[in-house]
Formats: sequence, C-alpha cells, structure tokens
Amino acid sequence: MKILITGGSGQVGFELQRVLSVFGECIAPTPDQLDLADQQAVSTYLESLKPSMIVNAAAYTAVDKAESEPELAERLNAKLPEQLASYCAKHDIWLIHYSTDYVYDGSGEEARPEDHPTAPLSIYGASKLRGDQAIARSGTAYYIFRTSWVYGARGNNFVKTMLRLGREKASLNIVNDQIGAPTSARLIAQVTAQALAQRANDKVGVYHLTTSGSCSWQQFAQEIFTQAEQLKIPLSITPRAVEGIPTSSYPTPAQRPLNSRLKLEKIEKAFQLTLPDWKSQLRLVMAEIRECQG
Ligand SMILES: NC(=O)c1ccc[n+]([C@@H]2O[C@H](COP(=O)([O-])OP(=O)(O)OC[C@H]3O[C@@H](n4cnc5c(N)ncnc54)[C@H](OP(=O)(O)O)[C@@H]3O)[C@@H](O)[C@H]2O)c1
Repeated sequence: MKILITGGSGQVGFELQRVLSVFGECIAPTPDQLDLADQQAVSTYLESLKPSMIVNAAAYTAVDKAESEPELAERLNAKLPEQLASYCAKHDIWLIHYSTDYVYDGSGEEARPEDHPTAPLSIYGASKLRGDQAIARSGTAYYIFRTSWVYGARGNNFVKTMLRLGREKASLNIVNDQIGAPTSARLIAQVTAQALAQRANDKVGVYHLTTSGSCSWQQFAQEIFTQAEQLKIPLSITPRAVEGIPTSSYPTPAQRPLNSRLKLEKIEKAFQLTLPDWKSQLRLVMAEIRECQG
C-alpha cells in the first residue's frame, strides 16, 4: 500500500509517519516538494504518485491569522480536502482527515456528540467545517477525526510555549473559562492506526478523537508546571503562580469556543478503544521533552 501523508512536518503528520509505516510505504512530501495551496500542483502530484490511501494532516492552523488570510485558510482547510476527497472517490480509495472542536460554537457545558449542530465562531472553524462537509458529500470512504488542543514534543504548541514562558517569568495569567481536552499528536496517530486497521464501509464517518477528561487552559498550564517540577525541568515559575483570567481579558482576533468538551463514545465503541486521560498523555510528552533537553 502507498500512503500519501500530507502535512508530514506538522505535529500530527510527523507522528503519523512513525505509526503508519507498518501499513505500507508512507510518502510525505515537504512543502518545497508540493505546495498544497496550488490546486494544479496537487492534481499533477496525485496523478503521478497514484496513492492507495490519503491521510490529510495538512491544514492552515494559524487560528488568529486566518481572520486576515481567509482565502489561504479556505484553500487549505476547505478546497484541499474537497480536492483530495474527489480524487479518493474517483479512485475508490480511503481518505483520512482531521478536523476540530472549532466547528462548534462552544455554548453550554455538556460534551457534544458528533451529530451536534455545527456553528463555527471563526474563519478557521468555518473553513474546517466546509472541508468536513465536502468530504462527506464526495462519495469517498473516509474517517474525519475531530480533535482539540493538539500538542507534542515537536512543533509550536501550548506546552512548548508554557515551558518557554515558565523559564522567563515568575507568574502568568492564563485563560480559565475555555474548557477542553488537551490531546497529544502521538495519541491521534495511534488511534488513527487502530481505526485504519479496522476500516470498513459501515464505519465511514466523523469521530471525536481527544483524550478523556477536561480542563481549562489555566489548569493545563498548572499541570505542565507540576509535571515539570517532578521531572526536574528548571523553571522560574511554580504551578501556584498561574493566575486564571477570563477570555474577555485576553482578546484575540479569532473568537474561540468556551466549551470544547467532545463526547468520545462513538470512537470508543466503533474501534474498541478506551481513550486515556489528558494528564497521562501529557506525562509521556513531558518525559520526551525532558529527554530531548538532556
Ligand atoms: N493544533 C491544534 O491545536 C489542533 C486542534 C484541533 C484540530 N487540529 C487539526 O489537526 C490537524 C493537524 O494539526 P497540526 O497541529 O498537526 O497542524 P500543524 O502542526 O500546524 O501542521 C500543519 C501541516 O500542514 C502543512 N502545510 C500548511 N500549508 C501548507 C502548504 N501550502 N503546502 C504544504 N504543506 C502545508 C505544514 O507545513 P509547514 O510546517 O511547512 O508549514 C504542516 O506540515 C489539522 O487538520 C488541524 O486543523 C489541530
């Protein structure tokens, strides 16, 4: 099997390359080799590669910047998935794609199931939703995994930012009224592999894929610093020095959902999984970061 992985230099794409190689040859072109913003280049590439599966981990993920670059966000998050889905439908191959909690409006306090009405608050969320919708109507066999608050030892993410700020500052103000599930890129890749091994036409669809449990960004930051203390990662800050602030005190160009809790029953039942809690996955990534620091 020849698996095309787009976005292979990203957080999820990199982890996918590790775990999907047991299914066949993984090909992950760099942006220099294939500019995914270029529709014709993508078309030509697909026709010459002839993949037997596409795993699309590429996206325009700069949520705030998307507000001022809506065309590029639309191309990468909506039109690219549509193009890949159309190729997959035509050649009768599977498409695996990743989406986001930002397709929902984040109202209420309950965890949402996959069939909850969508209502994105941002350009990023709206463009990702159009990508999901294009895949669903393309006729291809697909999984769409909606995930949230992605981090890993590689790439730019909240954990890496907190560790940098924790070295520089003795106190921090972090938003405490957005609630979600921090999810490691490694876990997303591992669950993708499980789902791929069990792929079947009656399993096609959208799945929530996050860790279990939930926290605010403030609690996430406090846990990062708690685990950093345990791992003896030198910092200037302590967990108690992380103050909570409301979203209204931290204005950003893009509006974010307050309630990002996602129900996980569908994926757990379909693929016989139990998604681990967010703190245990953070521990694995923190240990990896500690290891890299030497
Ligand atoms: N990050 C989150 O918190 C989060 C939350 C929910 C859902 N998701 C979804 O999860 C998926 C994976 O996210 P991630 O965090 O792994 O994203 P990421 O680290 O930002 O990676 C995105 C990848 O897309 C590539 N890319 C972007 N524009 C490109 C272009 N024009 N040509 C070629 N490659 C291009 C990037 O290449 P470069 O590295 O060279 O730019 C990178 O490899 C995405 O669908 C995202 O929407 C992410």
